[in-house]
Formats: sequence, structure tokens, C-alpha cells
Amino acid sequence: MVRKIESMKILVTGGAGFIGSRLVRKLIEFGAGEILVYDSLHPQVHGDNAAFPDFPDGVTCVRGSVEDAANLTNALVAFDPDIVVHLAAETGTGQSQDEIARYCTANVTGTANLLQGIGFLPPRIRPFLLSSSRSIYGEGPHVAPDGSPSRALCRRADAMQNGDFNVYDAKGRVLQGVRVADGLPEPLSVYASTKLMQEQLLLNCAEPKRLDPRILRFQNVYGPGQSLRNPYTGVLSIFTAQILAGKTIDLYEDGGMVRDFVFVDDVVDACVAALQGSEPLKEAIDIGAGEDTTIRAVAAELLTICGADPQQRMQVSGRFRPGDIKYACADIAPAKRHLDWAPRVSLNTGLQLLVDWARGSA
Ligand SMILES: NC(=O)c1ccc[n+]([C@@H]2O[C@H](COP(=O)([O-])OP(=O)(O)OC[C@H]3O[C@@H](n4cnc5c(N)ncnc54)[C@H](O)[C@@H]3O)[C@@H](O)[C@H]2O)c1
Repeated sequence: MVRKIESMKILVTGGAGFIGSRLVRKLIEFGAGEILVYDSLHPQVHGDNAAFPDFPDGVTCVRGSVEDAANLTNALVAFDPDIVVHLAAETGTGQSQDEIARYCTANVTGTANLLQGIGFLPPRIRPFLLSSSRSIYGEGPHVAPDGSPSRALCRRADAMQNGDFNVYDAKGRVLQGVRVADGLPEPLSVYASTKLMQEQLLLNCAEPKRLDPRILRFQNVYGPGQSLRNPYTGVLSIFTAQILAGKTIDLYEDGGMVRDFVFVDDVVDACVAALQGSEPLKEAIDIGAGEDTTIRAVAAELLTICGADPQQRMQVSGRFRPGDIKYACADIAPAKRHLDWAPRVSLNTGLQLLVDWARGSA
């Protein structure tokens, strides 16, 4: 069954951001009635003196933080949304290890404020889309050399300092990561813990607040519009900015970290599909391209697209960040089953679009 989003009033927190701004435009294309974008225009993402994107008619923007409960509740009550999309968040995994309170306040208290504010609205069932993250799995599911599943231990800083970036189990066996779908949460960074807490808060409040939770766990989203100035998030934007500035790309660890890069428009389509579905989503849905790519391979592809020589312009540094994981890739079968969604943009096409956009904005 398809829920009509035509004529609906949709609140999008974080709607000025990378994913949010494209989602807002897509929702208007789909005939959404009115959209309220609630966003703090975070300077780390948008720079100083930032303005809201130039949205089409039907979109109203309010500058405010989800940390400001009174302001958020006022905006909620004045707008009375039919659908809530919660994207606003601090998003840097590495940064979250140092800025613990800041990440908890924005991501956890911010979500709590939103849920509490919904309690002031006239009661009716409201779909609530939450942009969660693959990071909640930590290292995620792994198999031993004999192919049997085995639990990955958290990688040790002292081993990584000595250049050993493998994932081990308790028996000392080197493990191989496998694709994940709604696996066991085991967050290894503060950011990941806050994203898991967002999910839990939503589930805790769903029934009393009459919310219909639609939780999507995104892999590495990339594409045009991702902040080129934020040094804490978006590895492909960071690489692109470095390449266009003539720099050499620094590959962390041994360059063998694996990621699942999913193009932003595919993610936006998944969000729309999740909002249109009228059946309850009984589980969180993993959203990725479903293809594993090493950081070395994606960096080489990006350099080639930019006309640079990968041999000359990338180097393995051995540096590492606490909280980073070795292997991430989604099993997208549940997304196909529950959302009738599949990614459409190949990595090469997506990277080309990213580079074209970055060249225009540099
Ligand atoms: N981009 C990815 O690879 C990725 C992966 C997994 C999950 N996610 C999640 O998707 C969501 C959107 O991410 P994005 O990549 O578009 O990030 P983004 O930084 O481009 O957008 C986030 C938006 O939230 C706003 N914001 C930040 N703190 C706020 C606050 N306290 N109050 C109000 N607004 C605030 C920012 O100004 C920004 O416009 C986030 O919840 C993020 O955790 C993103």
C-alpha cells in the first residue's frame, strides 16, 4: 500500500544539509503540501554567514537548533506536521570522540526535545523518519577463515600503531567482514552511540506519541552538495577537495578499509519510499549500494576521474582514527523487500557527478 504524501505537511530537521536539502526538493516534486525546514545552519557544515538553500515554493525555513526545546516546540506547534523527518545531527565520527557532550546534546537531547515537543501536537498517527547510521554496528558481523560466523573484537590502538589493522576474534583468528542487515548493535564511537540512542528514543516514544517509526541506517552517503569545508565527515568530499587543491591524498590505515558508498539521490529515493510505505516497518532498514569498495580503490577512481595519476597522488600514511571500523557494507535485500527500493547510480557515475559539482563550487 502506498501512503500519499501529496498535500502533507512535513517537518524536516536538518533540511538545509547535504541529504536534507535534496530530500526537501524531492518531496516538493512528489507534491508535498508544505515543508518546514528546521535547521541551525551549523557553521562547521555551512560556514559562517550561511543562508538557507534556495528552496521552491511551499518550503518555509526556520533557523534554530534542536537543542533549543522551546524554539523547537514553538515551531512544531505552529506547523503541526503530518510527517516528521529527523536528519539534524552532528555527524563526525572522529570528532565525536573528543566532543562527547556536544554530540550527545545535539543528537540525543535534540531527539528527546523533538519527541517531547510532538507531545504538544494534536494526537494523530504521524510517520517519523529517522536517519540512523551503519555505524551503530561497530565492526559488524564477521566470519572466521573457515567461514563460520565469529564475533569481532574492537581493534586495539597499540596494534594499529604497529601497522596491524586486521580484525580479530577472541581466538586470535583474523576475521573477514560480511554484509550487514539489521545486525546486533555494538557502537564503537560516541557518534554511533548517539545514533543508536536516537533509534531507541524513537522506539520508546512511538506508541505513546502515536508515531510510525521509519528507521533507515545509511552507509557512506556521497554526492553533490556534501560540505567541502567540513573536515570531519564525508571522506569522498574531503578527497575531492584535496585533489582539486592539487594535494596528495592521505590514505589512513593501510588503505584497505572497506566502505559502501551510496549516492545521495539513491538515499533520498529510499527516504521517499520509506515515507510512502504504509505498512509498519518492523525493523530498521540498511541503505547502501550493497557493494564493498576499499578506500584505496575509491581514491584511485576519484583521482582518475579528476585526470590525476593515482600512483603519484595518493599515499598510505598508516594513520588511524579511534572509532573507525575496518569493513562496512550493507545487505540491501531487506530494503528491496520492504521498500521496493534499489540503488540506481553506479559508483563511477556518482563520483563523476561529485567531481563536476565540486569543480563548479571550488
Ligand atoms: N552523510 C552520511 O554519510 C550519513 C551516513 C549515515 C547517517 N547520516 C545521517 O544523516 C543525517 C543527515 O546527514 P548529512 O550528511 O546530510 O549531514 P549534514 O551535516 O550535511 O546535514 C545535517 C544538517 O543538520 C543541521 N544541524 C546540525 N546540528 C543541528 C542542530 N543542533 N539543530 C538543528 N540543525 C542542526 C546542519 O546545519 C545541517 O544542515 C544525519 O542525521 C546523519 O547522522 C549521514
